[in-house]
Amino acid sequence: MKRVYIHTFGCQMNVNDTLRMTEALQPLSYQATPTVENADLIILNTCSIREKAEDKMLSALGRYRQVKLQRGAIIGVGGCVAQQEKQKILERVPYVDFVFGPDAIAKLPEILQRVEADRVRVVETAWVDSETYVFPRADPNTSRGKATEFVTVMKGCDNVCSFCVVPHTRGREVSRAFDEVLREVASLTGVGVREVTLVGQNVNSYRGGCSFAQLLLRTAQVPGIERVRFTTSHPHDLSDELVDAFRVEPKIMGHFHLPVQSGSNDVLKRMRRDYTVVEYLERLGKLRAARPDIAVTTDIIVGFPGETEEDFEKTFALTEQVRYAGQFSFVYSPRPKTGAALREAEWGPVPHEVKIARLERLNALQKRISVELNAAFVGQTVEVLVEGASKTDAARRFGRTSHNRTVNFDGDAPIGALAHVRIGSASASALSGIQVAVGSVPAVPIPELAASPEVCVA
Ligand code: 5AD
Ligand code: SF4
Repeated sequence: MKRVYIHTFGCQMNVNDTLRMTEALQPLSYQATPTVENADLIILNTCSIREKAEDKMLSALGRYRQVKLQRGAIIGVGGCVAQQEKQKILERVPYVDFVFGPDAIAKLPEILQRVEADRVRVVETAWVDSETYVFPRADPNTSRGKATEFVTVMKGCDNVCSFCVVPHTRGREVSRAFDEVLREVASLTGVGVREVTLVGQNVNSYRGGCSFAQLLLRTAQVPGIERVRFTTSHPHDLSDELVDAFRVEPKIMGHFHLPVQSGSNDVLKRMRRDYTVVEYLERLGKLRAARPDIAVTTDIIVGFPGETEEDFEKTFALTEQVRYAGQFSFVYSPRPKTGAALREAEWGPVPHEVKIARLERLNALQKRISVELNAAFVGQTVEVLVEGASKTDAARRFGRTSHNRTVNFDGDAPIGALAHVRIGSASASALSGIQVAVGSVPAVPIPELAASPEVCVA
């Protein structure tokens, strides 16, 4: 038995790809290990969405070099940086043995055999074209022990947001056939999973034989499924049909991640986001009319080229107006071959210290709003899907509400149960409470929480 350690950076697509890598390596007798020191194979599943993510990959590689020197471990680099940099990674880092793109996961056994037997360094970053691409099928055993799981429904992105590297690293959109998605969901309920999150770079332009709204409704009908979520969406195709799905299907959870990126129409135009702030707010209004208590979260980029103080004030005002339940805000970083990077000098780069100051102001505002919104739950009883032991106190439990709020609580409800928790206190990031009842337990008992891969959200 050999051991593989996979360090996962970035988004949920990568977390899912890591699970598929582990499965692809099983025929070669590799088992996942949570400790790099005893690994025979080290894989970095990389992210290139922002510069910082790439820097983190390079510093991790530096650390893993020791394991190679001591144990002769093989080192591979996968994910988005691999797709983008290809051969250049081998040139830059002499102790990397192979580089493989997101479409080459199924080829991992073949790649390793070449590395091990032929003692060659391998680069495998060819795209599989959309007609012939086959989504790796998840092995449900990988999900045993979990109450909630992610299911890939599409890959790639056909949008052209000028800041974003994803279309270059993940290629064109390819949707997975809906019957295959439903089969995978059914196989997950067979090992106790009760909640699924449908994932893709741009899920609401899904075209796998039905619309995305229909896919959500069908997923909710799979026996054993109690909760359905999805991520991530582009505001321009938030359809009325999708809004209606929130009106009619209570198993679709009350959370919508709707990245706005900026509150200034001028900036949105340069970002090529093809909506105005008013259009964004109109769609949000429809969503809130269909599900009044829906929690909306967003992504925002500050310091995009040419962003003036006035533009930033508009983003600040939009945050106040929408009162997001949470936001992920980032300073702009130029990415290779993207439209914004090519025109940054023309539009006017924003000085680093200005970017940081804006980010800090926005984060402080969001923190105040999150504290206020979370405080409103104190004294209420909420339904929580129990996911395992609390990360801060192993004697407590942890789960999430319909609105995707993290709840740590005292109680004994088993993993996979829907517990009723009375909230006693709240912070910006989590709620805390005491279990008052157990609503329902999973049909298939969940024995223990599976070890999760190391995730570094960069
Ligand atoms: N710089 C900063 N943030 C970025 N994002 C994407 N590309 C960049 C970039 N070049 C952010 C966007 C996106 C999120 C996943 O990452 O806000 O929604
Ligand atoms: Fe990137 Fe825009 Fe596609 Fe999202 S929608 S992955 S931000 S290009």
